[in-house]
Amino acid sequence: MADLARLALPLLRLLPPETAHDLTLRALAGGLVRPGAEAPDPLLRTALWGHDFPNPIGLAAGFDKNAKVPDAMLALGFGFVEIGSVTPLPQEGNPQPRLFRLAEDGAVINRLGFNNEGLAAVAARLAARRRVVAATGGIVGANIGKNRDASDAVADYVAGIAVFAPLADYLVVNVSSPNTPGLRELQRRREITVLIERLLAARAAAVPVKPPPLLVKIAPDLTEEERVDLAEVALTSGIDGLIVANTTVARPPGLRGGNAHEPGGLSGKPLFAPSTALLAEMHRRTRGRVTLIGVGGVANGADAYAKIRAGASLVQLYTGLIYQGPALIARIKRELAALLRRDGFASVSAAVGSGG
Ligand SMILES: Cc1cc2nc3c(=O)[nH]c(=O)nc-3n(C[C@H](O)[C@H](O)[C@H](O)COP(=O)(O)O)c2cc1C
Repeated sequence: MADLARLALPLLRLLPPETAHDLTLRALAGGLVRPGAEAPDPLLRTALWGHDFPNPIGLAAGFDKNAKVPDAMLALGFGFVEIGSVTPLPQEGNPQPRLFRLAEDGAVINRLGFNNEGLAAVAARLAARRRVVAATGGIVGANIGKNRDASDAVADYVAGIAVFAPLADYLVVNVSSPNTPGLRELQRRREITVLIERLLAARAAAVPVKPPPLLVKIAPDLTEEERVDLAEVALTSGIDGLIVANTTVARPPGLRGGNAHEPGGLSGKPLFAPSTALLAEMHRRTRGRVTLIGVGGVANGADAYAKIRAGASLVQLYTGLIYQGPALIARIKRELAALLRRDGFASVSAAVGSGG
């Protein structure tokens, strides 16, 4: 599968990471990365929110911020794709360099700061896609953020919901990026409660019947009080799930990459243990009643299986793709299916939370 990608991977690694990413997006948009021919494994099919996910492995937010290649990524074998984060107005993000590899750690640090083309441009792409692929298309979620200089953060998220609710299969409120000052404070009990109330109203106004699920994406760096509060809010506010977790501002001991000191959010292998522990904790605190998407440091099928056993109904990844290329997608699915079969699970959903 994806022979060109396999050849290109070592070359891409010689380029500055953001240049490599831009080239990858161009190659994907130009149809240069071809999917393999693996048949979908029926064991991995997952029904959730009225959707039939062909498999539970999704592309995390940040790879395709502007919805340029969702269908190319679905064709590579992802079970679903999350575009964004998108802010109401286009913005440049932070000065470059702002993306750093920590190859020795299988990790990345980014402080992109929501560089994106803005709601209008991204919505136009999703609308055009809907006209073409209609009901046969794969599952695409939209992740929304706020502009750096927004005077009213809630209004920015409301705008994102109003625009994307009719166009996306699910909606994600990103209140956990470490690269927009003040953003993560929206995770506090009072702030998140008000925000969710307004967003549920905006969603109902935009799509009164069968609206897309609304999820909140949380940080791995929460205090215990915040974790308790967020579990309570997830249970009572009417949202449809949590995504656990965004990048971390912590620097776990033992990082070897020379870029470890760079400010920003760390993703990849060092994030696996803390994000999976948080996932298990949120599963326990919400007594298995809240749908969870597990993300952070997934680099093989065993990692994806661990997320599911910790309570994730779906799994996402990004950084693993940077180091292993698109061949990782087929590998994870193959390994995950083998692990489910080994342990006698007849479906992904039967294994959700079974590790607790
Ligand atoms: C370069 C980069 C950009 C990202 N941009 C976003 C973003 O715009 N919105 C968001 O919710 N998460 C963003 N993330 C976080 C990922 O979606 C994911 O939560 C995190 O990287 C952990 O998963 P991973 O270890 O598989 O990469 C970004 C991550 C990276 C590496």
